[in-house]
Amino acid sequence: MATTVNAEALNESPLPEAVAKESKQSVDPYNVSGEVGEDGVVKAIDYSKLVDEFGTKKIEPALLERFERLTGQKPHRFLRRGIVFSHRDLDLILDRYERGQPFFLYTGRGPSSDSVHVGHTVPFEFTKWLQEALDCPLIIMLTDDEKYLFSDKRTVEEVQGYCSANAKDIIAIGFDPAKTFIFSDFEFMGGAFYRNVVRLSKHITLNQSRAIFGFNDSTSIGKIHFGSIQGATSFASSFPHIFGTDETKTSLIPALIPCAIDQDPYFRMTRDVAARIHYAKPSLIHSKFLDALQGPGTKMANTLQSASIDESAIFMKDTPNQIKNKINKYAFSGGKATVEEHREKGGDTSVDVSFLYLRFFLEDDEELEKIRVAYESGELLTGDLKAICIKELQTYVKVFQERRAKVDDEIVHQFMDRRPLKWAGNPRAPIVVPQVEGAAGSAAGEAAEGDGKLTKNQLKKLEKQKQIEAKKAQKAKEKEVRPAAAA
Ligand code: TRP
Repeated sequence: MATTVNAEALNESPLPEAVAKESKQSVDPYNVSGEVGEDGVVKAIDYSKLVDEFGTKKIEPALLERFERLTGQKPHRFLRRGIVFSHRDLDLILDRYERGQPFFLYTGRGPSSDSVHVGHTVPFEFTKWLQEALDCPLIIMLTDDEKYLFSDKRTVEEVQGYCSANAKDIIAIGFDPAKTFIFSDFEFMGGAFYRNVVRLSKHITLNQSRAIFGFNDSTSIGKIHFGSIQGATSFASSFPHIFGTDETKTSLIPALIPCAIDQDPYFRMTRDVAARIHYAKPSLIHSKFLDALQGPGTKMANTLQSASIDESAIFMKDTPNQIKNKINKYAFSGGKATVEEHREKGGDTSVDVSFLYLRFFLEDDEELEKIRVAYESGELLTGDLKAICIKELQTYVKVFQERRAKVDDEIVHQFMDRRPLKWAGNPRAPIVVPQVEGAAGSAAGEAAEGDGKLTKNQLKKLEKQKQIEAKKAQKAKEKEVRPAAAA
């Protein structure tokens, strides 16, 4: 299993390069690293293995065809190229879209002091595309509490202070303010959200948490509890200002969660509890990681694990020159040692970082294919390939920077205000106000869980209590009339 690691220890550990010993691939929210072979070399993440281990489904062409048929949108390049590669119950969300039933998108980020790197933008770019294709509400969670809990040094004030700048980075991806709500955990906790946090935490045992996340006896209870917070955002009933206050209806509105595959353990756990408390299970759609410049096998430096290393990633604040220098200097090449050998044997696009980045960021399929063929045949040299990659990334980063410059504090407030959202859904299906479908089952289930509706027994007790109160009141009245009688 991928999750037999001790997350506690790994949190403190340096980058995966330092893991010289042979070890299995491991992917969970706190640790992402490829298998390390006997030779001490880190291998690329085996994503098919993850699909099997996690019990998710591969995104098959038929599902993409259905997506296109229903939404009229050509699948995003991440979908076309298997970068967004796996899902849980995406078909159920498409069923709802087809029928005009409500659902929403949910994603998030742990706010940090570092600028975002290109890898961070992948799930957000994809989420933005989904929001446009499906025309639905989107909720973005800033897990400032998680950042505090999982770091040794940061203070609460510090992590909370990162939220505004991080929200600006996210907004700069291009989300629609009418359909998007961004919140910080520290700010938003309470009310309906907290009720769902507690409903979740009640149904997660320490044993499960250890098995899912690799926690141990010296893990703080804050870390152990955090999963119920990240999970509770999957429930529409946490957001009465968007979906209304009738929990019998809103608890049945599912989320579709676009995320990198390392976040899946949180939602596996959430889906399990949702089924037991008769809430809609969240659906998921998983992306792969963008490899670090140094090559396949590692996710780019992530602050949850360690301090970011400038050389490992292209940052969204980088200048055109910095991008050029980083790619030229650090981007792992699949080319051959000499020009002669390269011309003869060709390059290996499966490990070449410049080519990998083009797969993520170059929109044109035909052009990408031409580049692949030319590089593998030896016609295109590493230097040429790097130049194409540099140009593409410079454009991607520049467009982002222009949007980012326009996002001010007022716009952040607009996105973070508790307010109703406006969305239209499937233009071919009239939007259905939150359905009561299955509500009867829900009520019965909740009663059994002791979470919501009252059982017959509880009702009887209440009735008895009422009768007692009534009798008491009656007696008190009688006393008033005949004050001295009992004395
Ligand atoms: N835990 C994520 C992180 O550290 C943030 C997050 C919260 C998230 N909820 C999410 C990511 C839902 C993807 C989907 O960055």
